[in-house]
Amino acid sequence: MSKPLPLILDCDPGIDDFIAILMILAAPERFNLLGITVTGGNVSLNYTAQNALKACELVGRPDIKVYAGCPEPILRELQIEDEVYGETGLKGVDLPKPTMALQRSHAVDFLIDTLMTSPQKVTLATTAPLTNVAIALVREPRILDHIEEIVTMGGSMTLGNITPAAEYNFYADPEAAHILYTCGKKITTVGLDVTHQIVTSLEWFSRLDALDNPVAHTLATMLRAFYEYDMKKFGLAGGALHDPCVIGYLLNPALFNGKDVHIEIDTSFGIGRGRSIIDWWHKRGLPANSHVFSEVNVEGFFDLLTDLLARYGNRQHILTNEENT
Ligand code: BDR
Ligand code: CA
Repeated sequence: MSKPLPLILDCDPGIDDFIAILMILAAPERFNLLGITVTGGNVSLNYTAQNALKACELVGRPDIKVYAGCPEPILRELQIEDEVYGETGLKGVDLPKPTMALQRSHAVDFLIDTLMTSPQKVTLATTAPLTNVAIALVREPRILDHIEEIVTMGGSMTLGNITPAAEYNFYADPEAAHILYTCGKKITTVGLDVTHQIVTSLEWFSRLDALDNPVAHTLATMLRAFYEYDMKKFGLAGGALHDPCVIGYLLNPALFNGKDVHIEIDTSFGIGRGRSIIDWWHKRGLPANSHVFSEVNVEGFFDLLTDLLARYGNRQHILTNEENT
C-alpha cells in the first residue's frame, strides 16, 4: 500500500469545511494530515478556529494540530458570510466547547516551517480565502519547491455566489488569490461549476440517518439546517457541498473532469472584484496556470462521502497515522 499523502488543509469552517476535515480524518490510510490552518472567512477567525478544533474532537482526533492564521484579508475588510452557515459557522448544532488547544505558532509560520523541512513534498488543500497561503508564498517563495499539488476551492467559470461575478473565497481576498494564480505553479481549481452539482438531498439525508453513527447524525443535523439556503438563493436542488469536493478529488481524481487553462483574478474594486476570468477556449494564448474542473460524477462523489462517514460507525477501522505506520 502506498504511503499516506502528507497534507495541509487551509480552511475557514463553516459547515462544508467541517465536512472536508471529517473526510480527511476518515481516511488516515490515504492522508497524513500535518496540520490544519484556519483563516477568517465564513465567520470570524475565533469561530473558524474553534470549529476546526470541534471537528477534530468530534471524531476523536485531539492529536491534530490546528493553527490560527490571518483574521483579515490582505487589503480588504473581511466580509463574513454568516447568513450561509449561521453565526457560529455551524448552524443547527451546538457542539461542546473543545478541550484541545490551538497551536501557539501562527498558521503562516507553520506553513513555511513545515513545507521547508518536510522530507517529502506536501499537498496543500485550500477551502477558504487564500490569505494565509499568499502571505506564506510572499514571505518564502521557496515553499513552492516543497509542494506536490495545490488544490483550491474557489472561482467560477460563469456566475458568482457572493456577487454576480465572483465566488466567495476569491472575492474575500482577491489579492491573495492573485498571488496564488501568479506563483508559477499550476493550481488545481475546484470552482462553483462543479460544486454546485454536488448538492444535498432528502434521499441522501436518509442514507446518513441509516448509517446510525453519531458523526453522520451530527452532519445530517447541520446539513438539514442548511438544506434550503442554496435552494432559495440559487435555485439549486439542495445545499452545495463546495469544500468536500477538494477532498473528494484528492481521494478519487477520476470523479472529476476538466482541462488546463489560464485564470486571471480580477483585483479591481468594482463589480468585477474577485471574479476568476477563466480562459476556457484559450482565447488569450497565455500559458495554463490552472487545471479547472467542469464535470463531476455526482453519484460517485456521494458514494465516496457516504462510505467515508460510514467508517465512523466502526471506529476500529479508523486508525490514527501512528497506528497506521
Ligand atoms: C466557498 O465559500 C464558503 O462559503 C464555503 O465554505 C466555500 O469554501 C464557496 O463559495
Ligand atoms: Ca470554506
